Amino acid sequence: MARYNFDTSINRRETNSARWDVKENELPLNIADTDFMVMPEIEKAIKNRAAQSCYGYTYVPEKYYEAYIRWWRVRHNTKLEKEWFVFSKSVVASIDSIFKHVGKPKDKVVMFTPVYNVFFNCITNNQLVLQECDFIFENDDIKIDWDKLEKSIKDAKFFLLCNPHNPVGRKFSVDELNKIINLCKENNVYIISDEIHADLDYNKERYLSILSPSIVRYEKTILLISPSKVFNVAGLHSSVAVIPEIKLKEEIQNGFYSDDIGEPNYFAIDPIVTAFNEGDEYVNQLNAYLNENMAFLKEFLLKNLPNIKIIGSNYTYLVWLDISCYESDSNLFVKHLKERTGLVLAPGIIYGKSGDGFVRLNIATPRKNLEDACIRLMKYITEK
Ligand SMILES: Cc1ncc(COP(=O)(O)O)c(C=O)c1O
Repeated sequence: MARYNFDTSINRRETNSARWDVKENELPLNIADTDFMVMPEIEKAIKNRAAQSCYGYTYVPEKYYEAYIRWWRVRHNTKLEKEWFVFSKSVVASIDSIFKHVGKPKDKVVMFTPVYNVFFNCITNNQLVLQECDFIFENDDIKIDWDKLEKSIKDAKFFLLCNPHNPVGRKFSVDELNKIINLCKENNVYIISDEIHADLDYNKERYLSILSPSIVRYEKTILLISPSKVFNVAGLHSSVAVIPEIKLKEEIQNGFYSDDIGEPNYFAIDPIVTAFNEGDEYVNQLNAYLNENMAFLKEFLLKNLPNIKIIGSNYTYLVWLDISCYESDSNLFVKHLKERTGLVLAPGIIYGKSGDGFVRLNIATPRKNLEDACIRLMKYITEK
């Protein structure tokens, strides 16, 4: 059995990395990609493809969708059909295009907040109206405000779900998902479920997709998935929308084509087929490593910084930290932390007003980086 190595640091500085183009002393654990060496089989697939030395237009072959179908059957006990798939260059591009072509200006979008900040851009870019439905943070628990959801969904066009949730690392139970779908159904609201973090279930609790067999079927459901987080291939720009209702699928597919996001780049297919067909062991080992990183972080905080609380964070490699006992202004906390120690975290406020008093930390990095981050954080707090 292959043993994958997650401890080796790759020098990502001066490679146009969105995360690592920072000063020499800075340790950026903010943006959501991993620092791990890609699965060697993926690298090989890219090299084989590159060896053809002729990089013309391409289409999406059946084997691409078949690879997703196998993965979702085996890993998520969810049966997807080939006819439901539409290729898209990225999940954000899909959301943007769906808003543009299925929605119209002034349509309302409901989301649980705090949430992945780029969703806000998709809403404003398309002149839609945001309705935030804040999670209720109660002790270590993250609760849904059902009253607020029931009220705000009434005149909405879309409910945009992030499951597992970025940044709070929360999954949703069968009852919660069914209740959300029933509310959408009653009010004729499209549900877009962004499940890009689906495979990062390192605590081994069951994660449920919106298309899992135990979830109510609803014709206005759109599932968005991608290999980009778990296999660290965001730069290959390869993802799909999965839409069981054929008319809606065609409408969305036409939108993707007209936005020029529906055709793959030359490297967007083969490496992903390889990832999904051969990546089970890699993902098992990745999740085991993330689990150990999480255990290390928990123990460190408990021992050295017990006032910083980890909230939720059972899924995704993004950890939501409550720093409110030190600073309620998360921008200020992050700014001073960076100035004084070089550690770069994401301020909670960028994920919505209710995110202030929190920061987001990416733990998908070799342990020694995480240890370094913890020491920098402790130094900052103790010298504050
Ligand atoms: C919930 C969520 N959706 C989408 C994205 C971005 O996906 P893509 O690069 O496919 O647009 C991210 C990236 O962090 C994310 O966390």
